Amino acid sequence: MKHRHVAVLGAGVMGTAIATLVVGHGLPVTLVDVDPDRLARARTEVSSQLRLAQLIGAMRPERTGDLVTTTELGDIATADVVIEAVTELAEVKAKLLAEVSAVVGPDVLVLSNTSAIPVDELARSLTHPERTVGAHFMNPPYLIKTVEVIRGPRSSDAAMSTALDLLATLGREAVVVGDGPGFVINRVLQRMINEAARIADEGLATPEAIDALFTGCLGHRTGPLATADLIGLDNVVDSLLVLHERTGDPGYEPSALLRTKVAAGDFGRKTGRGFYEHRGTK
Ligand SMILES: NC(=O)c1ccc[n+]([C@@H]2O[C@H](COP(=O)([O-])OP(=O)(O)OC[C@H]3O[C@@H](n4cnc5c(N)ncnc54)[C@H](O)[C@@H]3O)[C@@H](O)[C@H]2O)c1
Repeated sequence: MKHRHVAVLGAGVMGTAIATLVVGHGLPVTLVDVDPDRLARARTEVSSQLRLAQLIGAMRPERTGDLVTTTELGDIATADVVIEAVTELAEVKAKLLAEVSAVVGPDVLVLSNTSAIPVDELARSLTHPERTVGAHFMNPPYLIKTVEVIRGPRSSDAAMSTALDLLATLGREAVVVGDGPGFVINRVLQRMINEAARIADEGLATPEAIDALFTGCLGHRTGPLATADLIGLDNVVDSLLVLHERTGDPGYEPSALLRTKVAAGDFGRKTGRGFYEHRGTK
């Protein structure tokens, strides 16, 4: 299938960077958010992310696709793929996906970038649930090539093949897994971040020491708490709550330190402070 027009819903950390990836591969994007300020920032961010990706050789766009930003969901009516990347709250995603169903045609592929909500749970909100597939892009999606692709129990062969074709067009490598809270990556990663935050809270080790063990001893590129700051601590808590509510596993109950930081507005890189100070990265 030839992809012509991609709609990205949510102009936060991920939606903006997914828009960068898509326009960087020459496809036009309509980026939707409820917040006009977010959309204005996203335009600048897409330009600087494209420059960065080009500079380090991660993307070599011959021509970039047009970027349209809007607060009107009706503007995605001509999209042939929708990528949902709004806040990790099941009720927000469910309401939006029901609205999407009313706007786009029945053949349109709906990819969700959810961190932890089962794809089949999201599919319930669509009149054509078989068109839904999970595409868990990593942050930042224009630099990280591998994408965790989640096939829900009702995802059709046609939807899977369109999803894999789009990811190939975007130069991404798909690893297909089954459905369930947190899928593979976040079922493991969120628990690890939560436990690392508990250790810091108990005073057993500083965030620097915890992360140094993961990078130095285990060869991880970043430690769990630096990763949490990159993801956004608000998103980490939302994802942990999704996992905790759906599994009942106390390992996913957000640690007191994570909750305190989020309550104080210290979300990590996007606010300038989380487990670390991030000067000039806001
Ligand atoms: N941050 C990460 O590293 C990361 C990685 C992989 C997946 N994800 C997932 O991607 C999704 C987005 O995460 P994020 O970190 O970009 O969050 P974010 O908080 O940075 O951005 C979310 C955006 O969604 C917008 N939004 C909320 N409701 C909306 C609606 N009804 N219509 C349009 N826009 C709406 C908000 O205004 C905000 O700009 C979440 O599901 C998250 O779990 C995040």
